[in-house]
Amino acid sequence: MPAVKTAYLCQQCGASSPKWSGQCPSCAAWNTLVETIAAPRAPSRPSSAARSVAGSAAVSPIGVITSAEAARLTSGLGEVDRVLGGGFVPGSIILIGGDPGIGKSTLLLQLAARVAAGGGRALYVTAEESAAQVRGRAERIGGVVDGLDLAATTELETALAAIESVSPALAVVDSVQTLTSPDLAGPAGSVGQVREVAARLAELAKAGQTCIALVGHVTKEGTVAGPRTLEHLVDAVIYLEGERLGSTRLLRAAKNRFGSTDEVGVLEMRGDGLAEVEDASRFFLESEEAPSAGSAVTIALEGTRPLAVEIQALSASTSYGSPRRATTGIDANRVLMLIAVLARHAGLNLSGHDVYVNVAGGLRIDEPAADLAVATALASSLRDRPVRRGVVLAGEVALSGRLRSAVRADRRLLEAGRLGFGTLVTGPARGERGRTAPSGMVVASTIREALEHVLEG
Ligand code: TYD
Ligand code: MG
Repeated sequence: MPAVKTAYLCQQCGASSPKWSGQCPSCAAWNTLVETIAAPRAPSRPSSAARSVAGSAAVSPIGVITSAEAARLTSGLGEVDRVLGGGFVPGSIILIGGDPGIGKSTLLLQLAARVAAGGGRALYVTAEESAAQVRGRAERIGGVVDGLDLAATTELETALAAIESVSPALAVVDSVQTLTSPDLAGPAGSVGQVREVAARLAELAKAGQTCIALVGHVTKEGTVAGPRTLEHLVDAVIYLEGERLGSTRLLRAAKNRFGSTDEVGVLEMRGDGLAEVEDASRFFLESEEAPSAGSAVTIALEGTRPLAVEIQALSASTSYGSPRRATTGIDANRVLMLIAVLARHAGLNLSGHDVYVNVAGGLRIDEPAADLAVATALASSLRDRPVRRGVVLAGEVALSGRLRSAVRADRRLLEAGRLGFGTLVTGPARGERGRTAPSGMVVASTIREALEHVLEG
């Protein structure tokens, strides 16, 4: 029997009950009770003596407090630092989430090795693989370095003790789903266990100077352990994304107490681990050869970073039945809408054609500014006319066939120029009628007008 008293806490209303049941006895919500450790509650009204002691310990003039910025620990990979907001913050805890097999363990072992090689101490706690397995991977990625320690355990207490005794600059815990506290009855990976593991590690991080990076597998529902279970316990949530079979990996922050959540890091999985790509902006361009029909380039804005991305479309006569529409990297409904707009406002009828749209390089684009490039790639394929050389497109297409400028078109124009594209085609910006467009920017007011301008022949 566990010695610690446990209780069941409702994730919805916060009520606590001594027994588990399917429905919360307090708010009647279903499946919201989660096993937790029933800690003795601090008295809600401390005596005046206690208050003054606590007060003197917690209050200091803002001028004497050192900011977290000063002490950032560089991860050794610029793309990771960018997403973290400048590096690891001592005394913080971050969650690195991602699909199984995407490369979380590889990335964190690399970061731990780089921190160690840079003179900081690093500890890698593995609860998923044996120390020998981790050592094998370290050999492959050049991670056998002084200052990097391994600990293999699935017990939370052992992991906590290891971190406390080494007191490293960076501690990696792989993974939150495989460590367990014997105080809770639930199995490893259950919501109660995951919460307890994260909460205890967060407590430890906050008490010292160690930055703890916690690995979490994303479940089919797209979260690490039930919605909002971990997000509020950690300082930052960073997802490693990508197609498993492709080599591109994107790093994005979903929450970051120490930086922006707009930044994206671009990495490539190689034989010796994850590497920074040389010119990330150029990375999603498929080729530098003469443009072929069915291809159009847009400058997407991922956070504050512009990325040149090739959109590929293929239309082929439907042999039988209703036409197929398949997309990768872009919302299928958005493509259906663009097909309808092309039919109605540009005289391009795709109703007898199968249509495939693909975003090159495994990137996923969600911004409406990609519309114009998608519509152009479709038109280019149907008419078998390539887009003129040196042209990129960024703009939103309305149901009326009218165009609207992409947000931060000037930033995109700059990047287009840097990559050797002479012309950015976009739509009119709101409230800027009559303003002359900067050199290199072509403003078209409708999709028909844009296509006349950009398609060859
Ligand atoms: P892994 O880090 O184990 O994924 P996760 O911890 O997210 O489950 O990475 C697994 C994949 O990465 C595996 O299929 C092999 C591949 N890989 C490489 O391509 N290059 C490498 O250098 C390493 C170590 C792994
Ligand atoms: Mg792993």
